[in-house]
Amino acid sequence: MRHVLILGGTTEGRALAARLTPELTAEPAPAAHRITSSLAGRTAQPRLPAGEVRIGGFGGPEGLADWLRAERVDAVVDATHPFAAGISRNAALAAAATGTPLLVLRRPGFTRVDGDHWLPVPSLAAAAELLPRRGERVLLTIGRQGVAAFAHLDGVHFVSRSVDPPEPPLPPSFEVLLDRGPFTVQGEEALLRERAIDVLVTKDSGGAATAAKLTAARCLGLPVIVVQRPPVPDGVPVVPDVEGAVRWLEQRLG
Ligand SMILES: NC(=O)c1ccc[n+]([C@@H]2O[C@H](COP(=O)([O-])OP(=O)(O)OC[C@H]3O[C@@H](n4cnc5c(N)ncnc54)[C@H](OP(=O)(O)O)[C@@H]3O)[C@@H](O)[C@H]2O)c1
Repeated sequence: MRHVLILGGTTEGRALAARLTPELTAEPAPAAHRITSSLAGRTAQPRLPAGEVRIGGFGGPEGLADWLRAERVDAVVDATHPFAAGISRNAALAAAATGTPLLVLRRPGFTRVDGDHWLPVPSLAAAAELLPRRGERVLLTIGRQGVAAFAHLDGVHFVSRSVDPPEPPLPPSFEVLLDRGPFTVQGEEALLRERAIDVLVTKDSGGAATAAKLTAARCLGLPVIVVQRPPVPDGVPVVPDVEGAVRWLEQRLG
């Protein structure tokens, strides 16, 4: 039996684990595999994937390489969030060190359409620098990590939405909405109006579950500061969806 490690914590990671679990899918699943999904353990109540799940860091690229050897992993699919650059780098190093085939499953970024007023920036720090010139009441949807990049801004009111509460340091004028997608355009428009939001800050995470805020911002004519993705490690193949990952696994593992 071949062993596949899915580095997860995303909708795609869960979908791939389900797709590789024959009893859960109507599609023909690839030949018998042992599937292990790995989560970082950041969220208090994570949505658990099908199959085996392990939770917590590996201890850097060396720890991950040790784990790949000890658990006799035949292939790794890095289905982590597009902004989880640390684990993606570690996966590339560990895969190279152990000779384990590695694929990155990365959903496409958000699609810009006519009427969008997007302001792309390379980092959260650049978003924080631009923000005070663009608005006074911001909807911040960057997850709970990274809020510290905005902590020094005292002329801006923040409405921050995340699954779990962010940790200090936080900006002086700050409220938290604990919520988890998928979100609707209608709901997002209502939120933007109720809170008198005049600018959004988001990462270019992509995915249908959180795209509604961009449509709502377009409808209301609001600017959106969009933090660009970090690059995928050099030389690692990338597919945009679960079926691409299944095909890659079939080619690799038969
Ligand atoms: N960053 C985001 O915006 C975001 C959004 C939604 C979901 N997530 C998910 O949350 C997790 C953590 O994201 P992050 O941005 O904090 O990661 P990160 O900065 O890339 O990784 C930091 C460390 O966390 C551990 N880690 C991360 N993902 C792991 C996984 N799937 N399994 C085991 N260990 C993992 C690793 O620790 P060791 O070095 O000890 O192995 C890694 O070095 C990821 O699984 C990601 O898919 C992230």
